[in-house]
Amino acid sequence: MRIAVLISGRGSNLKALIDACAAEDFPADIGLVLSNRPNASGLLHAEEAGIPHKVIDHKEFKTREEFDAVLHRTLEDAEIELACNAGFMRILTDDFVNRWRDRMLNIHPSLLPAFKGLHVHQRAIDAGVRISGATVHFVRPEMDEGPIVAQAAVPVLPDDTADVLAERILAAEHKLYPFALRLVAEGKARVADERVVISDGIPDAPAPIFMPPLG
Ligand code: GAR
Repeated sequence: MRIAVLISGRGSNLKALIDACAAEDFPADIGLVLSNRPNASGLLHAEEAGIPHKVIDHKEFKTREEFDAVLHRTLEDAEIELACNAGFMRILTDDFVNRWRDRMLNIHPSLLPAFKGLHVHQRAIDAGVRISGATVHFVRPEMDEGPIVAQAAVPVLPDDTADVLAERILAAEHKLYPFALRLVAEGKARVADERVVISDGIPDAPAPIFMPPLG
C-alpha cells in the first residue's frame, strides 16, 4: 500500500513509520511526506531516507477549503492510497475528510475518547487517571474521533509531569503506529458500523497494545 505521512513538527512518529516500512515484509511504502509547516524538523527524516517530501504552507492560503483542495490534489497526484497523520496539527474541512473516509489514519496521545484536543498529558494528570496511552484511528470530521484501529496503554505515575508522561506515551506511539498501519495495509482492519473489526491472522500485539475483537 502506498501511503503518505502528514506532519507539522518533530516527526518522531514519521521516523518510526519510515523504519517500519524499510523492512522488506512490511506491507506499506511511503510515497510522500507532507508538512503544512516549512520549518518542520521532521522533514529531515524524509530527506535522510530519500523519500519525496513537500511543504504545503497553510499560511499561503486564504481559506481552509483552498488548502485542503491542494492537499487533496497533491495526494491524488502521488497516487496515495492511505494518508497517515503523524503530529499533523491542522483541522481539515468536512469535505476533505469525507473524500478520505477510511483512507486516513491519525495518532493521538490519549486513550480516546478520553482527552481529545490539546494539552492532553496535563489534562490526564489533572484528572488523576492511572492509565493513559495512545490511539490510532480512522479520521472523521469531528476532531480526534473515528473508528479505533488499536490502542496502547501506559501507566500514569504519581510524580509524572506532562513532559515525562508525554515521553512515556511517545515511546508507545512508536510501536503502536507501525502495528496499526500493518493491520490496515494488509486489509485486516476494516470499518463496519463505525467500528474497526479485525479479520483472521492478527500479528501478535507487542505489549502494551490492545486489539479490537476478531470480526
Ligand atoms: C505525538 O504525540 C502525536 O500523538 C501528537 O503529536 C505528537 C507528534 O509528535 N498528535 C496529536 O496530538 C494529534 N491530535 P511527532 O511529531 O514526534 O510524531
